[in-house]
Amino acid sequence: MEPIYQIYYLQEFVNRPPRDIRAFVVGDQVIAAIYRNQPTGDFRTNTALGGNTENCPVTVEIEELAIKAAKAIGNGVYGVDMMETEKGIVVHEVNGTVEFKNSVSVTGVDIPGKIVEFAAEVAKR
Ligand SMILES: Nc1ncnc2c1ncn2[C@@H]1O[C@H](COP(=O)(O)OP(=O)(O)O)[C@@H](O)[C@H]1O
Ligand SMILES: [Mg+2]
Repeated sequence: MEPIYQIYYLQEFVNRPPRDIRAFVVGDQVIAAIYRNQPTGDFRTNTALGGNTENCPVTVEIEELAIKAAKAIGNGVYGVDMMETEKGIVVHEVNGTVEFKNSVSVTGVDIPGKIVEFAAEVAKR
């Protein structure tokens, strides 16, 4: 974001496979997860940068960690980004306003439909 904010975050480079995981949390459920494979020549897996997506089975480890991370922020719709490490899975980002581009087709899950259902449910409370 330089030169607008001029804030730099320094962090350890995590030795992970050439992919990360995004888990879609809606309320208290992990409705789907994807692997984001990094493109050639970039360690970043963001789909906007050319990362491609694949379905990721939602294991108990992914589910528990994603829910914990989401609950730390609130009760809503989140994309929890995670990395696979030798010591297990770690979270590096919790996204609000999560995109689901390239995720519906690979997971077979109607992500926008589930978000709308959840919003309607919350609105009725
Ligand atoms: N500490 C890290 N070590 C290795 N890869 C990382 C690390 N932090 C983030 N990444 C990778 O960098 C990319 C962007 O990271 P992220 O923190 O999600 O920022 P953004 O806001 O750009 O999505 C992702 O592909 C993620 O896997
Ligand atoms: Mg991210």
